[in-house]
Parts: sequence; structure tokens; C-alpha cells
Amino acid sequence: MKKFYLTTPIYYVNDKPHIGHAYTTIVADALARYHRLRGEDVMFVTGTDENSQKNIQAMEKAGERDLNGYLERMADAWKESWTDLGITFDDFIRTTEPRHHAGVVRFWDAVKKSGDIYEGEYEGWYCTGCEAFKKDSELVNERCPLHPNKALERLKEKNYFFRLSAYRDQLLALYDQGGDFVMPESRRHEVRNYVAEHLADISISRESRVVPVGIPVPGDPSQRIYVWFDALLNYLTVIGYGTDEDRFKKWWPADLHLVGKEIIKFHCALWPAMLMSAAKTDPLLRDDQGAALLPKRVFAHGFFTLNGQKISKSLGNAIDPRELADKFGVETLRYFVMREMPFGEDGDFSFDRLKNRYETDLGNTLGNLVNRVIAMSKKYFDGKVPPANPESAATPEGKVQWGGAHGLHTLFKSVESAYGSARCDSALEIIWNGVAEGWSGLLQANKYIEETQPFKLVKTDPDAVARILYSLLEACRWYAWLVAPVMPQIAREIFHQLGLDPDAEIKRGWGNALVWGGLKPGSVLGDPRPLFPRLV
Ligand code: MSP
Repeated sequence: MKKFYLTTPIYYVNDKPHIGHAYTTIVADALARYHRLRGEDVMFVTGTDENSQKNIQAMEKAGERDLNGYLERMADAWKESWTDLGITFDDFIRTTEPRHHAGVVRFWDAVKKSGDIYEGEYEGWYCTGCEAFKKDSELVNERCPLHPNKALERLKEKNYFFRLSAYRDQLLALYDQGGDFVMPESRRHEVRNYVAEHLADISISRESRVVPVGIPVPGDPSQRIYVWFDALLNYLTVIGYGTDEDRFKKWWPADLHLVGKEIIKFHCALWPAMLMSAAKTDPLLRDDQGAALLPKRVFAHGFFTLNGQKISKSLGNAIDPRELADKFGVETLRYFVMREMPFGEDGDFSFDRLKNRYETDLGNTLGNLVNRVIAMSKKYFDGKVPPANPESAATPEGKVQWGGAHGLHTLFKSVESAYGSARCDSALEIIWNGVAEGWSGLLQANKYIEETQPFKLVKTDPDAVARILYSLLEACRWYAWLVAPVMPQIAREIFHQLGLDPDAEIKRGWGNALVWGGLKPGSVLGDPRPLFPRLV
């Protein structure tokens, strides 16, 4: 069975999740569901980045003193938020767990053995908002542009350094070969330029007396491992690196790391270089030919902004995804974030657009279609799927834009390729709009009803109406499948209303189910109920 291992960043717990974190996690969840529907063996993980100074500052601000208690409570709160948003993570890693610690020590030792760790002195700026060292050239008005409300720290410390610059040529080769290690392409150029022009060795530890959290450097407790070096390793430790070799071998390398665009240097430069280094001395990290096992792809998406400014905990303009879910429903929120933001680019958040998407795309276009088609079929055909031969219903009646079975198949193939390349936004766009004439998207399906007017035609040509409605009912079954990664409960509800047992339908699997004629003429339909009731 094909395996698919995908990850989200592990989040800092200095606050509860906001819409930006929900975005990454929801997209990852939709992709995990898509790969599961295809029958693949999926490992979808997320977690919390706990060895960070930001967390301590937040705890102190909340007037608390028990760090472990704080971290545990926050990690639970994050898990709970994800569960409330329908996120089906398979594992959740906290970087304060012993299993993480064990893997980090193993990895540090491997890099050290490879000769890529040396002692040096760091002098410069540090932004606790980013948990990152900053060059003068990266500052705007002497502040970090991502955290303009935070003063920078001036550091002068003895640290351990990682020989990142030694991996410059290998990194450039990685971006150039095949071309899709970093997606989208614009981000690949950005990382490539950075590596080609600016790659330098990086400090990977902090003095323990200054930084109160973090995993001690093996053999030197006066230093703690830099939080990013530690955090990236979660992608290994969550699947058993350092604790469970068989599990690790089953899942590594990752098929997809989903991240926000602000952390691509860490994921696309530092991370593969760390792996290349450790792989020299740790056989678990190499393939049979001796090459380092690297993640297959990093996809960096854009930011949700509010009035043009990044939404962030540190900036205090966070929007709570659970409040939105309470008002509009979890699946509406999932649909909205994926549809609204072209994956890879920024998008501005707006309550009006959320409401509009709910009423127009979901209520009027998808909800109404399913409702009308089922209600008419029930009314004209005795509560049953019309007695049309699926073959004769496959080709549309008259001169219409609706592509029937052929148009659905074309739609399906392009939706599949969109999900397959992590483009949930394009998948939804295609399902709704179709792309060209002769496709069978949702808008075309609605037009087909307007054009053929089955409610009038039924008086003169019931056989034609049987064919038209069969075609549309069968299309609803396909739409349910196609939206299932994004709106799993809505998909189940559509199956149910079509008179299908949702569990049995889903068990058939993506490839087998998406074949024309799955609905049996004469089978009993369920009751039509509005999928997206009017907001009060
Ligand atoms: N702990 C690090 C990641 C370590 S991964 C080895 C971190 N955590 S974070 O809590 O700040 O989360 C950052 C991630 O949250 C971003 O990369 C992105 O996935 C998501 N987002 C945070 N704010 C966002 C928006 N405003 N819009 C979209 N996504 C955003 O960085």
C-alpha cells in the first residue's frame, strides 16, 4: 500500500490557535483525507513547539509559574481546537516529550560525528517573536518586520555552530533537480537566491544561563539546543527516530511538509542540510544507495491578513477559528479558508466574504442543487432514483453547456490532479466553476436545470426528465466525493440524502466509486434537507 506522510509546523503555545494556524492545519487535514480516500496508508501529524522562550513569556504574562503545567494545558487546548475543527491527526508531538528528547540527542550526535558542529561566538540580534537570529540587513527601523512591536535582544554569546555553509552546493542541486522540492515556484526562487547569496553557518545553541528552556546540548549542559534545530527534528521523532526504528523506516521520508512562507529558510535550507549532515554518520537517514533521505516536498503557503497586516498572536489581532465555526459551521470554515486563499499567496480575511461564500457557493450553488434534484426526483418518481438507463442519461439532453458523464469525468481528473499537488483551492474552484464549456461543474449543473426545466418538461416528456434527473443525481454523488476531503460531513449527508449508506459508499474507495452509474435506478432516495440553512 502506498504510504503518505504529511506534517504541519509544530506551533508555539504562547496562545490558542488563530485562523492562520487553523488554515495550515485544515489544508493538511483535507490532503490527509484525500489520500486516505484513495486507500493510501496516511500518517498526518501536528504538534506543539514547547522549548521556546515565547512560551515562557506568555506563561509569565498569564501570571503562572508552573511551566510544565502551562505547557500541558496549552498542548491540550491546541489538540482540542483541532478536534473541534474536524482535524484527523494520527499523532501529535510535543517537543517536551521523552521520545522527542531521545531522537534529538541521537541526531545531535550524528551531526557532531559528521564534523559539522564547532564552537564559536555569536554577536548580533535575536528576535524572540521569530525565535531567530537576525542580520542588520533584515531589520526595518531597527526592528523585525514580522514583529514590529517587539524589541530585539542584543546577544553576545559562546555557542555551538552548524556548518550550514558547507551544504550550499548540495542545496542548490536539490532545488534544481526535478524542480519541486520547494513549492510554489516563487518560493523556490526565493530560497534559491538566499542560499546562493547569503548562506552562512548558524548558531545552534544558546547559553543555559540566559535561556531557561530547551534540551541541553549532549555533553555540555551549559548550552541548550537552539529551538529551531530542536523543532525541525519533530518530523523525525514523531515517527520513531531514536525510539522505534521500524516505525521510523516505514514512514520516513516525509511526502509533504506544509508550512507558512515565513519559515521556508528553516524548512528548505537548514532542514535538508541538517539531514544531509546527519545522514553521513546515521544509516537510518540514508537510502540503499547511501543518499540522504530528504523530505520530498515543502509547500509554503501565504498568510491570512486582516486589513493587510499579518494575523498573529504576537500582534494581538487574532481571529478565533472556533468562534467562526460556531457561527457558520466547521465545514463552512474549512471550505472558506481553502477557497478564499489562492494556495501560496496571501489573502485578506473578511467576515463579509465568509458570509457571502456561505450564502452563494454553499447555499445557492451546492445546497440548492442537491435539494432541488432530490426533491424533484422524489416528487416525479415516487421517492426513487428515476428509472433511466444510466447509459442513456450519460449524454445531456438538447443543446446545453452541461457535459454529462464525460464532463464529470474530465472534472474529476483535474480535481484529482489539483488535490494531488496540494492545491485544494484549485480543486474547489474546478468543482464549482468547471473550467471550460462541456465540463460538469456545479454551476453548469444548475444551468442545466434552468435550461431543461424538468419541472415543466415532466408534463410532456417524463422519460427525458428521468434521464435529466438521473444525470444530476449521479452528478451529486460525484460532487459529494469530490468535496469529501474538504467537507467530509457534507459529503456524508449528500450520500445519505441520495439513499446511500455513507460508510458503505466511502468504503468503495475513490477510484472505484467515481465511475458513472453508481446510483441504481429505482433505489429509494433519502429525505432532502437543506445542507446550508439560512443564517439567522
Ligand atoms: N514553532 C514554529 C514552527 C516550527 S516547525 C518545525 C512556528 N510556530 S508558529 O506557532 O508561529 O506557527 C507558524 C505557522 O502557523 C506558519 O508557518 C503558518 O503555517 C501558520 N500561520 C501563522 N500565522 C498565519 C497567518 N496569518 N496566515 C496563515 N498561516 C499562518 O513558527
